Amino acid sequence: MCEAGYNEVANAIVRHAALRELEKFGEIISARPLTHQGMALFFGTLWAFFKDVPAGIVALAARVTDEWIKEDMWNGTAKAAHILYASVDEYGLHQHSKHMLPTHHQMFKQLTTHLGLSDADLFNPSNVLPEGTAMGNNTHRMYRSEFLGEALGFHLASEMTSSREFQYFLEGFKKYAREYGLVDEEDPVLAFFAIHCEVEPMHVATGREIVISYLEKNPGIAPQAMRGAMAFMDGFEHMFSALNRRLADPQSL
Ligand SMILES: [Fe+2]
Ligand SMILES: [Fe+2]
Repeated sequence: MCEAGYNEVANAIVRHAALRELEKFGEIISARPLTHQGMALFFGTLWAFFKDVPAGIVALAARVTDEWIKEDMWNGTAKAAHILYASVDEYGLHQHSKHMLPTHHQMFKQLTTHLGLSDADLFNPSNVLPEGTAMGNNTHRMYRSEFLGEALGFHLASEMTSSREFQYFLEGFKKYAREYGLVDEEDPVLAFFAIHCEVEPMHVATGREIVISYLEKNPGIAPQAMRGAMAFMDGFEHMFSALNRRLADPQSL
């Protein structure tokens, strides 16, 4: 029953038109390397979204702890751990017994610096599409939504799309390694893309587990989870269709 509820949300995510826009974006960046202006638009817009992801995940983990503890005191932290697992990667803590690693945000900065993009480029309003800003604002708000189901659905959609989008990004940049000034396809400066390809399948698995747990506890949240997931997917579709429109029309750049 709960698995069926989860499957309904997961299927709606993978059938959403946003994934077609993402695929189109993949075609654009594998057809030719992005110009400086194209990169500024891509990374400036992504940053407006990604900047809100790590804290959103932590906020959601805190809320899951607080909620679950009310009914199952000893296991609230264990349930929230499924969410927190994703932020261990975001914050560079997955080898905590040895040392702290660069965070995903720091890797983003290393990559964009390598590509010749300054903070001024990334924050220049003409390089930040409003659809990216909207994704960031939605991320900030939805992870902290008063409806926990919405937040969980939003998070699930975020992890499920990440597991695909970074593969397109990585492939596109590897394909034009020389043009992007990379040593080779394995250049460590691509870590920001490569690390997501590695960790996202695990994040999807843990996101799935927590949604199923919540549906078992409270099947009534299914419509909320669907609403949150679709809010993410709609915004994601708008962001990539706006990027695609701009990148496909060199005159607009
Ligand atoms: Fe990340
Ligand atoms: Fe993730």
